[in-house]
Amino acid sequence: MAEETKFKISIDGIPVEVEPGTTIMNAARQIGGDIVPPAMCYYTSLEGSGGKCRTCLVKVSKGSEKDPRPMPKLVASCRTTVMDGMEVQNITSPEVLEARKGVVEFLLINHPLDCPICDQAGECDLQNLSYEHGLEETRYEYKRRTFDKIDIGDKIQLHMTRCILCYRCVMVADQLTDKRVHGVLGRGDVSEISTYITKAIDNDFSGNMIDVCPVGALTDKTFRFKNRVWYTKPVDAHRDCPTCSGNVRLWYKGEEVLRVTGRKDEFGEVKEFICNTCRFDKKETSDWIIEGPTQVENTSVIASNHYETLAPPPVIEENLKLQEGNKVQLERTEKLK
Ligand code: SF4
Ligand code: FES
Repeated sequence: MAEETKFKISIDGIPVEVEPGTTIMNAARQIGGDIVPPAMCYYTSLEGSGGKCRTCLVKVSKGSEKDPRPMPKLVASCRTTVMDGMEVQNITSPEVLEARKGVVEFLLINHPLDCPICDQAGECDLQNLSYEHGLEETRYEYKRRTFDKIDIGDKIQLHMTRCILCYRCVMVADQLTDKRVHGVLGRGDVSEISTYITKAIDNDFSGNMIDVCPVGALTDKTFRFKNRVWYTKPVDAHRDCPTCSGNVRLWYKGEEVLRVTGRKDEFGEVKEFICNTCRFDKKETSDWIIEGPTQVENTSVIASNHYETLAPPPVIEENLKLQEGNKVQLERTEKLK
C-alpha cells in the first residue's frame, strides 16, 4: 500500500509533519513544550471530547498551500484538523493570548477561588491557567452560582460550584462504565452536573471521573482533606488485576497510601483507566508491586521535596569524604592510645 503523504505545517514558526486528519492540538503535542495549547475539555481517549471550553483557541494565519487565506476567526485547536501548508500561531499571537485571557475570565465567573482548601490544588488545570492568563481581580459584579456538595457515589463527591461543564465525566460514564446515571441537567446558565438521585454512581470504572475532572468538582471521598498533594510522595506500582491493567500511581504520606490514581502523561491525561477496586480498595503497600518513584516534572508543585532524580551536589560529596577521613583518623588515634 502506498504510504500516505504527510502534511507539512508550522506552529509558532516550528515546522512539523503530521498525518492527514491530525488536529492542530495533536500536531502541537507532537512538537511539545510551551506552544502546546492548554486543554480543559479535550481528552484524547474520550471520543467526542473537546470543543466546549475554548481555552485551546489558536490563530490560523495561513489556511493551506492551496488556499493561503487566513481563517477569519480564532479556532479551537482540539477540533480543527490540519491542512497541508497550514501556518498556526499560538503563543506568538497577541490576539490568541488576549482571547485566552477572556476565556479564563469567563471560566472563573462562577468558579470559586478556593484553592487553599480545594483537594485539586497543586494539580488543577484551571489553577495553572489562571496563574498564566488570569486577571488579578474579577470584573464580575453579580452573585456567583453556588451549590451544596453532594455525594454522587459512595466514594465520589460532587462540588458543582467548581464545575466548568467540560463534559469529560459524562463521557467517562458513557464510554467506560456499563451504565451512565449522571449527566448535564438544564441548559445555558442553569446547566449543572447531577444524578437526580444521590449516591447513584457505583459502577466499576466510575472513579476515573475523578481523574479526568480538570478542576476540583469531583473528588475522591477516601482522600478528601487527608493531605495537600505536594506533601505526598507519588510512586508507580502495579498489581495483577482481573478488571483493569493494574498500572497505578500510589500517593504516600510516610508509610500510608493516601490515594490511588491512574498514571497521567505530560499532558495531564490518564494513560490507562483503572478500576474502582484498584482505586478505592487497595490501600496497603502489600497489595502492590512497587516500581519506583514517579518522575515528577520539576515545574510541578508536587516536585517540591522530591529529590530522587538528583545527584548530591559535589560539595556534599566532598564533605562526606572528609567525614569518612576524619572517622578513619579517629579510629587510628583510638588504637594508638
Ligand atoms: S464535574 Fe468535572 S469533569 Fe464533570 S463536567 Fe464538571 S468540570 Fe468537567
Ligand atoms: S480543549 Fe479545545 S475547546 Fe476545550
